[in-house]
Amino acid sequence: MGSGRDAGRQARGHGRPLSTAQLHVSAHPLVREKVTRLRDERTEPRTFRALVAEIATLLLYEATADLPMQETEVRTPLAAAKGVRLAEPLGLVPVLRAGIGMVEAALELMPDAQVWHIGLFRDERTLRPIEYYNKLPSEATVQVCLVLDPMLATGGSAVATIDILKRWGARRVKYVGIIAAPEGVRALSSAHPDVAIHVAALDERLDEKGYIVPGLGDAGDRQFGTG
Ligand code: PRP
Ligand code: URA
Repeated sequence: MGSGRDAGRQARGHGRPLSTAQLHVSAHPLVREKVTRLRDERTEPRTFRALVAEIATLLLYEATADLPMQETEVRTPLAAAKGVRLAEPLGLVPVLRAGIGMVEAALELMPDAQVWHIGLFRDERTLRPIEYYNKLPSEATVQVCLVLDPMLATGGSAVATIDILKRWGARRVKYVGIIAAPEGVRALSSAHPDVAIHVAALDERLDEKGYIVPGLGDAGDRQFGTG
């Protein structure tokens, strides 16, 4: 596993140890404290939305640590100074609806990024993702895409989103979520072994309805007050 806590020791859904080099679970105290408040059933939508944005900022800081850079030079009031700029245009891909809460935070950090919305919801019976919205242009305009969606449960929505992005022509994709289930990490890492997964917490399991336990409930409902 990459940075953060040892997923292999923490979660063993279906008795199979989870070990994947592409999984990064943040160990940052600020992230862990904010996730604790996010989970709390007493946290109302206004605070929930603020916490989603704050956690997204901290996770994106970690997830973008290896973005390619180009050298550049600027003039300060005193002299020339060497510096860098991002080498490639970035695409932010919030998955509707719950990913909406992460996109403003991402744009604060990366104001020049393009935003491409993808809408998916899970069929409650089959738990399979149904695509209902796709705002990608016909040709890929960005090379690096950051998929934003707080919940990685069965992994169906993340796998479907990244399938769409790769068919579109995205060369490099990272997934940034908040809470993952071992089942979702397994599904995503086996379908897309090249995609780094950055989350704030790796939970125990899914329940019989496909909800993450302990999780936080329905991330869309809790952000938008529709529970
Ligand atoms: C949630 C969440 C993910 C998906 C994760 O969306 O935001 O997109 O479930 O579940 P999976 O890993 O099993 O696919 P949901 O389908 O509830 O739609 P919503 O955001 O519109 O409420
Ligand atoms: N989607 C959510 O919002 N929460 C879960 O626990 C699983 C899927």
